[in-house]
Amino acid sequence: MKIRTVLPALALLAALPAQAQDIKVGAILPYSGVYASIGEEITNAMALAFEEAGNAVNGRALKIIRADTETKPNVAAAKARELVTSDNVDFLVGPVASSEAMAIRDFVHQSKIPLVMPNAGANVLTGEKCSPYIVRVGFSNDQFVRPAGKWLFDKGVKSAFLLAPDYAAGRELMGGFKKSFTAAGGKIVGEEYSPFGQTSDFGPYLAKVKDAKPDAVFVFYAGSEAINFIKQAADFQLAKSVKITGAAWTVSPLFLPAQGEAAAGFLGSLNYVPALDNPANKAFQAKYQERHKRVASEFGAAGYESGRLIVEALKRTQGATKDKKAVIEAMHKVEMNGPRGPLKIDPATNNVIQNIYMVEARKGADGKVDLAVVDTIANVKDDVNGCAMNW
Ligand code: BEZ
Repeated sequence: MKIRTVLPALALLAALPAQAQDIKVGAILPYSGVYASIGEEITNAMALAFEEAGNAVNGRALKIIRADTETKPNVAAAKARELVTSDNVDFLVGPVASSEAMAIRDFVHQSKIPLVMPNAGANVLTGEKCSPYIVRVGFSNDQFVRPAGKWLFDKGVKSAFLLAPDYAAGRELMGGFKKSFTAAGGKIVGEEYSPFGQTSDFGPYLAKVKDAKPDAVFVFYAGSEAINFIKQAADFQLAKSVKITGAAWTVSPLFLPAQGEAAAGFLGSLNYVPALDNPANKAFQAKYQERHKRVASEFGAAGYESGRLIVEALKRTQGATKDKKAVIEAMHKVEMNGPRGPLKIDPATNNVIQNIYMVEARKGADGKVDLAVVDTIANVKDDVNGCAMNW
């Protein structure tokens, strides 16, 4: 009797077109560790993009499955495998740290599951270790700081000290800045790399910067390290003798509420600020702030745009996900005016082409510190850098 009722149900399931199955998006992001707040914001904003699409494309529901990388490369590698082999995800979105992205690269390439990267700037992933299945919505580390080297030199910074966490992103961001700054005529007077995720006392580094007497320190920190660094630099009164510049995640709107006035005066490069005056950004900020009661940062914008890219590509494939090449080629066709402004994916590298903004942290009349755009370097595009797309 039981068999009779079950069998028709099974037959019905088998008869359902693949289209009716959920589209699973594996959020391979840090929800703990030094970059936990970044992972949360990317996920929140991606969920908003899916919600705008009615959480479905062509009748297939969009489902986010969260996997905590703990900001650790080995955990990221294990979680990527689990999402693909146990959860059968159709897309991966993440991670945050360059080192995590490097750890999952080969698995993603072999499994052919499209990985959309809202952050994690490791240069080689859209250079010599590029993959047709890895699409970068965020940035490459080099792309992010290359414009800043010449810009700061032209504005009078003739010598700089480099300071960053000791892992792939810190090294690459400093390397990219150094290349363009010295090519413009600037001099590097020292560089230091603090143990990643293990440094809470920046005192010794601040003393070294001050002693070297550079015009500027060019710095990169994010997450809890950015909060600690900026507060300690203010207590140390570093800005009295050295201009504080850098990759401006260091004063991201995600960290500004904790940094407060200590962040004022920071000058650097970023690919998004909440104040950008375009309709997509106004709508995004209104929705994000209504839902989460706080301003969205560049991490949120990238999470939202990653979600939008997936939705727009799926609309072009009528919701089909089996043919991975078709999905990626659909992504190449998407030209978006997102919160950060115009962006598109370069099919030669799968890196994003985007504006880089020179921004300054300014204290307003209300005492609050916000980021203002002081210059725009439009449509910054990376060279192919040894990338060959092997499908
Ligand atoms: C990275 O590891 O690539 C990274 C992490 C946080 C902010 C920016 C870049």
